[in-house]
Amino acid sequence: MMTNAIPSSGHLLEVSGLRVAYGAVEALKGVDLTVGKGQIVTLLGANGAGKSSTLNALVGLAAKKAGRVVFDGHDISGLAPEQIVRCGMTLTPEGRRIFPSLTVDEHLMLGGAMHKARGNIAEVREDMLERFPILKERLGQKAGSLSGGEQQMLAIARAMMSSPDLLLLDEPSLGLAPQVVDLIFDLIAGLRQRGLTILLVEQNVSLSLDIADAGYVMANGRVVLAGTAAELRNSSEIRGAYLGA
Ligand SMILES: Nc1ncnc2c1ncn2[C@@H]1O[C@H](COP(=O)(O)OP(=O)(O)OP(=O)(O)O)[C@@H](O)[C@H]1O
Ligand SMILES: [Mg+2]
Repeated sequence: MMTNAIPSSGHLLEVSGLRVAYGAVEALKGVDLTVGKGQIVTLLGANGAGKSSTLNALVGLAAKKAGRVVFDGHDISGLAPEQIVRCGMTLTPEGRRIFPSLTVDEHLMLGGAMHKARGNIAEVREDMLERFPILKERLGQKAGSLSGGEQQMLAIARAMMSSPDLLLLDEPSLGLAPQVVDLIFDLIAGLRQRGLTILLVEQNVSLSLDIADAGYVMANGRVVLAGTAAELRNSSEIRGAYLGA
């Protein structure tokens, strides 16, 4: 296992000893990870490894049994989900969680309701419509009529309406055609260029390592491998299990 591959200063997020259990199922058995300011860090691992449980616990949606979450120098371990959003950390959940009968604009307004400075919502909305022009064309349309890729863009734009500093993205490429996946990854890279920090859970290991600075591999509720994106790409574990080389 590679250690200390990620510099120990400038971390926006520091997680230590994170444990989550669903009844008798121990999903996280003590997870440690850090995300540097302005970085894209990817969280990889097989189905059931604990990736979603990690993201959900970070935003307060899965109950933590133990562990400490320090965000931007503040211990947010005990905060409720809406308080965590106001601190500047937000989640685009696995499966997108779009409401089929609400319009695109209603989704944006829902995301904006958690904004720390509510006076800026109109401005943030304009910014999102510029960044996601397809959503501008579909503003009054019910979200259930959007394509899978458009729904994923909407889920990201909804999360971005709270003006987060750290975006947690859970499997944004799930179920999308390769061309659409490329588009989503371009959008993610574009968000980072504006200074957003991103923790990205993905099944598409190759594309994730292309845009990430660093990554972690989870198995059975633990981090089993950590390193820079280049180190992970060259590791025999990743090449054997994920990259088919
Ligand atoms: N609500 C729940 N109730 C009971 N068990 C759960 C619940 N959510 C997750 N688990 C279990 O916790 C473990 C970790 O699940 P988790 O969803 O975090 O994995 P994951 O890495 O995101 O997997 P995937 O790649 O399939 O999304 C699994 O064993 C899963 O079955
Ligand atoms: Mg998951």
